[in-house]
Formats: sequence, C-alpha cells, structure tokens
Amino acid sequence: MWSPSSWRAYPNAHQPEWPDEERAGAARAGLASLPPLVFAGEARQLRDALAKVAAGRGFVLQAGDCAESFHEFSAPLIRDKLKILLQMAAVLTYAGTLPVVKIGRIAGQFAKARSSPTERVGDLELPSFRGHMINDEAPTLEARLPDPERMLRVYNQAAATLNLLRAFTKGGFADLDQVHAWNQEFVASSPEGQRYEAIASEIERALRFMEACGIDLRSEPQLHQVDLWTSHEGLVLDYEEALTRRDSLTGDWYDCSAHMLWIGERTRQPDGAHVEFFSGVHNPLGCKIGPTASPEDVLLLCELLNPDRIPGRLTLVTRLGADRVSELLPRLLRAVRQAEHPVAWICDPMHANVFTTASGHKTRRFDAVMQEIEGFFAAHWQEGTWPGGVHLEFTGEDVTECLGGSEAVLEEQLDARYMTLCDPRLNPRQSLDLAFRVAELMRRYPSSY
Ligand code: PEP
Ligand code: CO
Repeated sequence: MWSPSSWRAYPNAHQPEWPDEERAGAARAGLASLPPLVFAGEARQLRDALAKVAAGRGFVLQAGDCAESFHEFSAPLIRDKLKILLQMAAVLTYAGTLPVVKIGRIAGQFAKARSSPTERVGDLELPSFRGHMINDEAPTLEARLPDPERMLRVYNQAAATLNLLRAFTKGGFADLDQVHAWNQEFVASSPEGQRYEAIASEIERALRFMEACGIDLRSEPQLHQVDLWTSHEGLVLDYEEALTRRDSLTGDWYDCSAHMLWIGERTRQPDGAHVEFFSGVHNPLGCKIGPTASPEDVLLLCELLNPDRIPGRLTLVTRLGADRVSELLPRLLRAVRQAEHPVAWICDPMHANVFTTASGHKTRRFDAVMQEIEGFFAAHWQEGTWPGGVHLEFTGEDVTECLGGSEAVLEEQLDARYMTLCDPRLNPRQSLDLAFRVAELMRRYPSSY
C-alpha cells in the first residue's frame, strides 16, 4: 500500500544522513505544517499541457540552474533568468510555430546526487558538496556536515522565488508588448541579440496587424501573461514527503513542492525509494534516461510510474551523449511506441556531455550539446515519434562555463566568470543561439499540430 512515507521501506540512494535525528524530525514536522508551494489544480493544468506535447502538439522548454544557491539569491538574478527563458520561448514559439510549455528548474532545485561521497579540494579530502538543501560548498568539514534545517530554508527561498515569478509572469513583465525589453544590454549587441531583435520586431508587427484587423488584443490574456511552471529533481525524500498533501477536490496525493518533479539518473532503480514515492503522487513526472537504460528498463519505468497510461503524466528526459544518441535512442523510442505508452520525450543534451579540462574546470562544448539535440530530432524523425522539448542548464548571467557558441568561449577564458555551484551552464548568448538552432530543427521536422 502506497503512502507518502511508504518509500522508507525501500532502498534509498543518495539520502542525507542527518547527524541528529531529533533535529531532523523537527525540521520534517516544521515543513509538514507549512502551506503547500503549489496547488494540485496547477499540477493538473501542467499535466494537460504535457499531454499535448506527448501528442506532438507542443514543445517543452525546461531550463534553469544545475543547483540553486542560498548565496546567489536576488530579484535581479531571478528576473534575468526569466528574461532569457521568455526570449527563448518567443523564438521557439514564433520560429517553430508551436505552443511552448515553459518549465523552470527553479524554486526547489537545491539537492544533488553526487557520483562519489567524497571529493578533493586542494589537499583536503572532504565529504562531497550535495546542494544547499543538504550542506555548504565551503571547503571545511563543518560546512559539509548535513544540516536538516536547510530544508526549511529551501522552502522559504522557493516560496519567495515562486512569489516573484508569479508577480513577473502575471503582472505585466511577460506581456508580449515587452518582447524587446527582455533583451539584456550585454546580449543586445551580439549576433544572437540582433537576431532576437529582428524576431521581436516581427512579433510586434504581427500584434499590430491583428489590432488593425479589429482584434482587441487587450482582452486576450494569453498575450499578457505567461504560465511558468516550477520543477526540480525530487532527490531528498524527507523534503518531498513533508510537502505532499491530499488534494481536497480529488482526494489524490500531490507533491506540492513543485508542479513537476523528476527522478534523476542515479535514483531511477525500479525497486528503489524514489520510484516508490513518485508512483503515488499525481504530479506530472519526469524521469532521466541515461545510456545504461535498456528498452526493458524504460518500459518497466513507464509501467511503474504511469500504469494507467495517462497522457502528460510521464515525460522521459533522455541524456545519452552526443556520440551515442543515434545508436541508443531509436530502440527506446520504438519500444515505448510499440507498447503504446503516451510519454512526452525531451532531450537533456547537458548531462552526458560533461568533461573536465586540464585546468580542472568541469565544462561542456556547445557543439556537443547541439549534436545531441540534432541526434535526438533525427531519431524521432526516423521512428515517427515527436521530439517534444529540451531540458537545459542555463543562467541569465554572462558566465564562462560552457565552451563555444558563435562568439566562442575558449578554454583559457573559463576561469574569467566561472560561477556555477555544480555543472556548467549556458550563458544568455549561448542559450539564445541554441533556441534559434532548435527552432530551425523544429521547422525541418514538421509536427502534427
Ligand atoms: C541534473 O539534472 O542536474 C542531473 C544531475 O542530471 P542526471 O540525473 O541526468 O545526471
Ligand atoms: Co546538472
């Protein structure tokens, strides 16, 4: 029998070992007494939007930080991240002519599954940094100690972030009339920024055209507001359980920490705690699919996470690697299509394309990211399935973390503004460049829309 705590009887990888059980219990109880961050009805709306994606009538843009930070938290940082997301969505909607489902890796993305429990920092061997929900990145033993009260701080930061995002997206900032204003100064003069300006002007002209035809644009809320959904990897089950509530309208359980939750590559074991927990909540779910997943593994996950085959319930996020996507993806697509599971497929071109430079920076090449996306589109085209979106790590700041792009970031420049807490992120110019290229792919592979 499933319950919000039934996962505790299952093998649970990557859970923090809180040093003091009494304090951990108090933090869990504190969280459980707080209001939900999202409403079950919103999660159902997102599920319906993702059902259209599964049917080939929409495209997902899911993006944000690898790990959110307690230290880098301010209104301008949230605003600049939203700006680039809105710009990319405008490019994809206009050039790809499809509805774009916008999902942030935001307002909860604070925990990381690490491949090793310890890491070397200089001469020190320390417990790994595991995200601000668990510990701090400072290179001392004390900072690396898991602290359960951090879960309450995550809740508070997520609530403040979500509040600002709701204000921005519903209060005028995301109005299509602002399409030029989303271009940040340091991007506007670049080739991507100028290309964006051209599209923004075309969108403006299209709006004026509709107005001239007698359509009252002011009365069309879709032009003035945006739905931006939140998502994160549901890694720390103490946090997810405490925010799981029974919906008063349907009686169903929802994990009210975010609209959408995904299961990471390291915690998708079919008999593990994460699959058990997420099988019982009714949110739309993602599941990462890495290069070791066989067609049988993927079908079993579909059965466990979406036994009733509800369209929009399950999104499979493939992260196979630029070199391997063409070899590995077609048979996964075929197996799921033949079993008639209604999944949305989206491509994470980031996580299987990481490498460390001689200078010790973890990075990714823009070209490898694009190569994986192209392989993803080609495999779908070959199998008659729908390439339903992309899952990216990006930031609104002008960082130098990923290599390449049209005004290439070079290896010797990585040190200049390398700011990420975890994995390297695309900067705004690289993100826009990517959006234009994906829109071109969308045009090459027509949808059933
Ligand atoms: C991530 O999304 O940041 C991540 C760690 O991905 P994966 O589980 O696919 O490795
Ligand atoms: Co990452």
